Amino acid sequence: MLRPRPIIGLDAERATQERERIFYGARLENDDPRFTSAAPLAYKNRHLQAVSEFAGIRALKTIPWWEPEIGETERDLVVQVLASNFVNDGDVTTRFERRVVELLGCRYAVGVTNCTSAIFLALVAAGVGPGDEVIVPDATFIATANAVSMAGAKAVLVDIEPETLTMSPAAFADAITPRTKAVVPVHVSGRGADLDAIMAIATANGVTVVEDAAEAFRSRRNGRAFGTFGAMGCLSFSPMKLITTGQGGMVITDDDALHLRLRQLKDQGRSIRGTGGDDPHPIVGYNFKLTNLQAALGLGQLETLDRRMDHVRRMYAAYKGGLEGLNAVRVLPCDTEGGALPLWVDVIVERCAELVPFLRERGIDCRPFWHPIHTQPCYRLPDERFPVATEMLPKAVWLPSAFSVSEADVARVCKSIREFLAG
Ligand SMILES: Cc1ncc(COP(=O)(O)O)c(C=O)c1O
Repeated sequence: MLRPRPIIGLDAERATQERERIFYGARLENDDPRFTSAAPLAYKNRHLQAVSEFAGIRALKTIPWWEPEIGETERDLVVQVLASNFVNDGDVTTRFERRVVELLGCRYAVGVTNCTSAIFLALVAAGVGPGDEVIVPDATFIATANAVSMAGAKAVLVDIEPETLTMSPAAFADAITPRTKAVVPVHVSGRGADLDAIMAIATANGVTVVEDAAEAFRSRRNGRAFGTFGAMGCLSFSPMKLITTGQGGMVITDDDALHLRLRQLKDQGRSIRGTGGDDPHPIVGYNFKLTNLQAALGLGQLETLDRRMDHVRRMYAAYKGGLEGLNAVRVLPCDTEGGALPLWVDVIVERCAELVPFLRERGIDCRPFWHPIHTQPCYRLPDERFPVATEMLPKAVWLPSAFSVSEADVARVCKSIREFLAG
């Protein structure tokens, strides 16, 4: 039984009114749809807990759709870097890159500031520039298209497959022109794009494949890691991913020449880690370095990689079981037996726009899918050219599967979905 805290100077009735005012104010603030990103959610949960304790009211825990998990190992490794006084891109970055190489079975990994810059650098390394076209699926985070624009090329959007929400190989083939230089398939939620078909079409047409594996770190098909099928693969370590470095990313490749070019491009055009002084700069480059501080965080996160992978697999299985038999909700497929890792659990539901606020009212945070890129003002094109993305994306939502989410939480989410459908 929670006991309300006394408020000095107020009689019992006024104190109750004041506590309720504070509690319901906090509750409203907590449910404010403008604050849906996972980062403030842990803070909001703590805030709500403190206010409920004060008010003597038991608040239902908000189930976060995603939030990072950072432990003591990460803290210790970051402190070691601080103590070393070498906080720039350095030996810890190299160690982190080598661990990723071992884990993914590729030859090279180049640490960069984030996956957006990774895709940009990969495209520039592949020779993409003004006048070129790069084919991108309509269903992706806008970063994929923006990276193409950053390279000065035109992002050519194509429709997706209804079953997987990944790039339609047929639409890709149709969109190829003499200007097409590259294609960027996206492995949505860790589910692989149809790489067999996409690679075959790309090879036949001399198009470079740069995989957007932002959501597919450690996800595999037939024993091969996503990101290693194309000429280059791009990873993200932003806070909503399997492991995070705060912000961070990597380009992976097996190609010697691309590797050298990527290292030059990420560090002002010099091919060796320079001094900032009298270094040779054979080409024009940028500053997209991943620092020792970020890499220390990443190395710490890798210590719990197996547990993290188990968790996302368990979440996926729990939702599959919990939503079984419902026709109005379809959990999108993920070939877990073939090695695919369902980073986030995405479902298709008819009345998605109503479901999201219904769940939020019950303290369940979920994340509506991206708008199709072609509907964004900066890439606007007619809906008729993207019938599948236009129909499917408004029905897609990611259900909560953060590391702090338990199987009991998933049962609560599934029960709420069933109540919504029955209502
Ligand atoms: C599919 C996809 N591509 C690219 C990105 C961009 O990654 P970053 O935030 O590391 O730049 C993301 C990030 O969420 C993503 O989900």
